[in-house]
Amino acid sequence: KLKIAIIGSGSTYTPELIEGMIKRKDVLPIDELVLMDIDARKLEIVGKLCERMIQAEHIPCRVVMTQNLDEALQDADFVLSQIRVGKLPARVLDETIPLKYNLIGQETCGIGGFFKAMRTIPVMLHIADRMQALCPDAWLINFSNPAGIITEALLNHSKVKMLGLCNVPFNMFKSIRETLQLDDPHFTYVGLNHLSWITAIEQAGTDYLKTALDMGLNSEAMKNIPSSGFSKEIIQMVGAIPSSYLEYYYFKEKKLQLLKESELTRGEKCMQIEEELLKIYLDSELHVKPELLSTRGGANYSEVAISLVDAIYNDKQEVHVVNLLNQGALDFMEDNDAVEVCAVIGKDGAVPMKVENFHNPHIADYMRMVKAYERETVAAAVYGSEDAAMRALLMNPLVGDYHTAHACFQELKAAHQTYLPQF
Ligand code: G6P
Ligand code: MN
Ligand code: MN
Repeated sequence: KLKIAIIGSGSTYTPELIEGMIKRKDVLPIDELVLMDIDARKLEIVGKLCERMIQAEHIPCRVVMTQNLDEALQDADFVLSQIRVGKLPARVLDETIPLKYNLIGQETCGIGGFFKAMRTIPVMLHIADRMQALCPDAWLINFSNPAGIITEALLNHSKVKMLGLCNVPFNMFKSIRETLQLDDPHFTYVGLNHLSWITAIEQAGTDYLKTALDMGLNSEAMKNIPSSGFSKEIIQMVGAIPSSYLEYYYFKEKKLQLLKESELTRGEKCMQIEEELLKIYLDSELHVKPELLSTRGGANYSEVAISLVDAIYNDKQEVHVVNLLNQGALDFMEDNDAVEVCAVIGKDGAVPMKVENFHNPHIADYMRMVKAYERETVAAAVYGSEDAAMRALLMNPLVGDYHTAHACFQELKAAHQTYLPQF
């Protein structure tokens, strides 16, 4: 009996996942799908649409909606988590308060992402703990952000079997395949979540990275990042293709200006889109994913998530980019650092692929600096240490200054107080 639980199923993204499950209905015969959310209204509206989508395809799968975590986890085989602690209003605080201190306000990078980690890690550790009791053999597939830091926390502070996911690598590969018209390229992808680069592209013995660098090829920007794109000079200087999240780092000042000038933050825009989506979902005639969902940044999430479940369930021994412990894949990172790299996926999980002959000190050093930030961030979240929090923020290239960090930390801490059990 195959049981899948979606934690945070009230997210308007859930129909994406259902679409992915429908697409794979023949290879993933799901007997029971549990939709779990603490928000009764969204649980019901989104859940009913999911039910209609499944019924329209005549899939013999029991759909259960619940607000109870334990009920969702009991005997699950896969647990997909997509929670947002404090919901979009908390994101808006992460996006706006830092701007007062001339710091980038973003949901996964900088001090905004730091506070998202502070709110999310305690809840994810609780989920991991309940999984230990109710479904110890299940896989946790997490896309709750900041996905890399959540992976770092869970794999070092719980026994759960988990993989962290993001759609950035998938979308980068897709756009490069299309631009260079390659049908079966092999990519080397190196980084941390939302801090990553493509460092090699090869097909049938030909090196296409050189072609890409000569062209100044930009991989597609995520919909949610007001993108300026990297110039040819920058791409050649780096010697690799950076993901669009690197714009926050490489163009820190320019991004800060853009964020300050914009009338609404991304979170505020998402709140509008969410309400519109919920209105559309209420239509009892609707039984497919509506087009409006593609205005969110999560494009291709379902493909990424459900193909991963498929690869584990059907022991496909396929290569996917996931967040997991390094275990020697990158020789310049520690074994227990969570990294975002290619891994071979099968029924026993993921084995990270060793990256041989890596020569890009800029990338290695940048990753180590941000990993130092992430380690201290996890310590701050798990132990409630404000000293660790300050050490984290001093290491983050988007923060750095002690007095600024300290003042902004105190204001965000007060603003998020109800969701910060550790402080
Ligand atoms: C991309 C990132 C996700 C992020 C999303 C935000 O897909 O990979 O980690 O959650 O964008 O999109 P949004 O529409 O919420 O701004
Ligand atoms: Mn089972
Ligand atoms: Mn992501």
